[in-house]
Amino acid sequence: MNILGIETSCDETAAAVVSDGVRVRSHVVATSLKEHACFGGIIPEIASRRQIESIYLVVSRALREAKMTWGPIGAIAVTTKPGLIGSLLVGVAFARALAYATGKPLVEVDHIQAHWYACFLRKADDKSPLPQLPAVGLVVSGGHTSLFDIKDFNRVKLLGQTRDDAAGESFDKVARLLNLGYPGGPAIDRLAKEGVNQQIRFPRAQLENSYDFSFSGLKTAVLYYTRQHKNFSVPQVAYAFQDSVISVLTAKAIQACQRKKAKSLLVGGGVAANSALRLSLQQAARRHHISLHLPSMDFCLDNATMIAGLGYWFDVAHH
Ligand code: KG4
Ligand code: ZN
Repeated sequence: MNILGIETSCDETAAAVVSDGVRVRSHVVATSLKEHACFGGIIPEIASRRQIESIYLVVSRALREAKMTWGPIGAIAVTTKPGLIGSLLVGVAFARALAYATGKPLVEVDHIQAHWYACFLRKADDKSPLPQLPAVGLVVSGGHTSLFDIKDFNRVKLLGQTRDDAAGESFDKVARLLNLGYPGGPAIDRLAKEGVNQQIRFPRAQLENSYDFSFSGLKTAVLYYTRQHKNFSVPQVAYAFQDSVISVLTAKAIQACQRKKAKSLLVGGGVAANSALRLSLQQAARRHHISLHLPSMDFCLDNATMIAGLGYWFDVAHH
């Protein structure tokens, strides 16, 4: 069964066709990210305007690249939550109209769940084995930091989430503090490689006996450090900050895997593109005999393949 996925929860307008929940037939993403850079964060009004302009072109192109007309499409899957309301509305309205016009069923997909599902997507030439369940899902993006206990695709439990800033949000805020521009994740990732040190050590909010996260204290600690040390090294601060985020994410994800007897750890979201986090998770997973799954970079960021893929496993809604 071929599913057309549509994703418009933030600043990306994305559409994709995925077969049987796994095989990616097309993958199209338009983004207004650059237009928000000068504001230091996403401006919802700009994002939703660009969604309206892009949605028709992006969906048409996803069908064209999959070499499909409406005939072979079995259902339409769309992100319904969470996200910026104006942006979400564009995708949902478009998907509903398509479902009505074509008579295809509509499936509603949760954006955060779709991020860990990205580990199941396979491009045409990719024969790698699929992750085994039960699994633990770690979603680390600009808007979310969540841990899930995944028994199967219809039995997913939230174990914990951030109590304040999301991991990606903390990268963006610290990058802003260090004048590295927006989005901050890639810049900190790059700089941290030149700033490896043991002198600066920022707090790690472990929040004992909880799978919740907290990153706002860390952000404040970085702020105070930069105020108190006039000639601080930007790469060293970037490294110490990143190291603190990574050690908490790795420790909690591995702990959840052990307690839930998970066979696999599925990681998703924009921060999963972070090279040091990938390395840290790889090392920890190997030590604890857990099979780690990290999507390719383009499936870590917001996209519609993960929506079309996860949508395959759900009951269809009536439109
Ligand atoms: O998943 P995503 O595209 O959007 C949301 O759903 O939120 O993630 C965007 C976030 C941004 O906060 C960005 O700074 C972060 O992912 N990010 C990174 C890296 N690449 C993107 N964070 C750390 N290291 C990276 N290499
Ligand atoms: Zn996302």
